[in-house]
Amino acid sequence: MAPRPAPADKFSFGLWTVGWQARDPFGDATRPELDPVEAVHRLAELGAYGVTFHDDDLVPFGADATARDGHIARFRKALDETGLVTPMVTTNLFTHPIFKDGGFTSNDRQVRRYALRKVLRNVDLAAELGARTFVMWGGREGAEYDVAKDVQAALDRYREAVDLLCQYVVDRGYDLRFAIEPKPNEPRGDILLPTIGHALAFISTLEHPELVGLNPEVGHEQMAGLNYAHGIAQALWQGKLFHLDLNGQRGIKYDQDLVFGHGDLLNAFALVDLLEHGGPDGGLGYDGPRHFDYKPSRTEDIAGVWASAEANMRTYLLLKERAAAFRADPEVAEALAASRVAELATPTLNPGEGHAELLADRSAFEELDVEAVAARGYGFVRLNQLAVEHVLGAR
Ligand code: GCO
Ligand code: MN
Ligand code: MN
Repeated sequence: MAPRPAPADKFSFGLWTVGWQARDPFGDATRPELDPVEAVHRLAELGAYGVTFHDDDLVPFGADATARDGHIARFRKALDETGLVTPMVTTNLFTHPIFKDGGFTSNDRQVRRYALRKVLRNVDLAAELGARTFVMWGGREGAEYDVAKDVQAALDRYREAVDLLCQYVVDRGYDLRFAIEPKPNEPRGDILLPTIGHALAFISTLEHPELVGLNPEVGHEQMAGLNYAHGIAQALWQGKLFHLDLNGQRGIKYDQDLVFGHGDLLNAFALVDLLEHGGPDGGLGYDGPRHFDYKPSRTEDIAGVWASAEANMRTYLLLKERAAAFRADPEVAEALAASRVAELATPTLNPGEGHAELLADRSAFEELDVEAVAARGYGFVRLNQLAVEHVLGAR
């Protein structure tokens, strides 16, 4: 029996996830529209604590001010009725044809100015609703043809946009930070800031790097063949894990947006262990929203939508239980020690030691029995098998 999800678990969902009508490039919608108000009520019943949205998920693109106010008021009422919060808000700069070459980095300057205005308006809404994180997924910021995009100029324009948004938040006194969501491709052939690493490097060039972090998604890193748990560990290490998108992905292919854990389950186990407990030496963990950005598969009817929403939370909680059991197992503690996992937290140099002292230490080099050290096994396979057995519930 999995524990029941509760608001204290901080699970949140995008309106666009459960609301996805399953229209894809090859086929029509397989499900009816879902009213955001109903989504809020159903998610609350399932035990979620938060709901997130793109401006266009809540207010249809182009709606006039009166209609916009009406949509927002209905949504706010649903939040009040259920106690759900909006920890994160984001802007859609990818659906409307005006964004076909991107928003912040379109070759067309008029498009760029329009995109900034759209985001500024939505930043106000995010602050009004008490969101603490504003996600920027630049799905259309990219290219199909190398000769058609000046990538260095595009990065200049990307930076110009993010700098302006940060200045806006500072000038308005909003308690809001930005989180860039990397993705390697889809819908563009190549997207700018394709991985966690690219985004971290970009952030270091900004006017207000302290206001900008990451929203890494499981599937996006795995589409690039990268290890998500490793990426998250580095984001935490750099103080940049502002938010995250949990889902499942099976290898290097299109963005599958499966239920969390329905892809690389062992990596999901390592991830939950990291988020919940920090590194093995008590390194940093994460206390923000556990946000699911998945798509209920096209095969599912509306009952399947809610079953899949629940599946994300159940899998997370089960992995959390399994991770706690793994950590509490004395055999695991012994295997961790045999693998010298905690030894990595010991600095390589002695206190106060520099290169001169290291060079003078004959035991480190001249007198070291290199063959004996080389012959030592690390026991990583045994340790990993213990993890597998805990994941399988065999221990
Ligand atoms: C995708 C992305 C989006 C973003 C969302 C929030 O691949 O479509 O993951 O779902 O997360 O636009 O900015
Ligand atoms: Mn995605
Ligand atoms: Mn996402």
